[in-house]
Amino acid sequence: MLSNLKAQPVDKILGLAAAYRADPRDTKVDLGVGVYKNAQGLTPVMRAIKVAEQRIVDEEQTKAYTGLAGDPAFSEAMAGLILGADYPKERFAAVATPGGTGAIRQALELIQMASPDATVWLSNPTWPNHPSIMKYLGVPMGEYRYFDNATRAVDFAGMMADLEGVKAGDLVLLHGCCHNPTGANLNLTQWGEVADFLNARGAIPFIDIAYQGFGDGLEQDAAGVRLIASKVPEMLIAASCSKNFGIYRERTGVLMALSPSSAEQNLTQTNLQFLNRQNFSFPPDHGARLVSIILNDDALKADWMQELEDVRLGMLDLRQQLADALRERSGSDRFGFIAEHRGMFSRLGASPEQVEAMREHNAIYMVGDSRLNIAGLNAQTVPILADAIIAAGV
Ligand code: LMR
Repeated sequence: MLSNLKAQPVDKILGLAAAYRADPRDTKVDLGVGVYKNAQGLTPVMRAIKVAEQRIVDEEQTKAYTGLAGDPAFSEAMAGLILGADYPKERFAAVATPGGTGAIRQALELIQMASPDATVWLSNPTWPNHPSIMKYLGVPMGEYRYFDNATRAVDFAGMMADLEGVKAGDLVLLHGCCHNPTGANLNLTQWGEVADFLNARGAIPFIDIAYQGFGDGLEQDAAGVRLIASKVPEMLIAASCSKNFGIYRERTGVLMALSPSSAEQNLTQTNLQFLNRQNFSFPPDHGARLVSIILNDDALKADWMQELEDVRLGMLDLRQQLADALRERSGSDRFGFIAEHRGMFSRLGASPEQVEAMREHNAIYMVGDSRLNIAGLNAQTVPILADAIIAAGV
């Protein structure tokens, strides 16, 4: 049986991490996988997480199962974080999932159960795991333009033109903030236009939000999602706690659904729990518990927000340093977009050959589509990268 298996393609992002590890050069710079690193190149455990973990060690009385939806305190805390304190509880269903990817996977399976012919529309480009999971599940896929390679900004006219192909009942996947891989984001006016368009068309927004707090701030990064939620009857939100709580390996995510009324809310909730049961039974608890401890404790929450804000400001500073270094070397403003982008990533706009040249000659590892993880830089490596970008002729 096992010999019948076919070799699978190496994941573009994870394969790059393996190539980086195998490179013996001590000057190598890892700008690949989306993991935050501080100036020392470490991915620290956040202070509030350490305190919450100690609290669990001291106070937890049992490791018995929670529920198929996970602990409701977690979903409620995440709803407050993403949708704001006065989110519509009577229309809200949610389950904890293994990471943000687990939430996306469960959302796609829910879509298949409710509406197997619906097309899910993805931005071009998007996080490669979106089309990969959809292809695996056989979910019909559409694509809309998103990024203008010339300006390295959102191609909003192209996006809206392509969305004209969306039919009633289709889903449109939008990155809640900090678009992966480009770093180019919709402004609030554009979010409003998209919301009105989806409403008029009878299409359903499907939000992937994995970097809240890494862009313009915790509240600001949720503004687009909240605006959409205030306008549409139905909506899916897949959220990850990996990045903003720094708990990557704990696999902590949540899938939320807003329904038109409390009758559908109940139906949706039981279906989400059914799906968890089929796929893995109970979702992981440890990370979810850490998050709900922090979000329900004023002092811990304030400390977490402060540390997250320091991370965000550190990345903005690196963006500015890189844009300045490139302005100096190129004698032009053509790399100014790096300071305008938000989140962990920027798409540089280099060709695959230029990306390869930077890897070969300068030991700089970025994803083949020229996505940079800004958090992989520090004051020492910014000038090295800037030199390499100019030498590669970007
Ligand atoms: C990324 O885009 O690098 C992260 O979301 C990590 C991953 O799983 O791909």
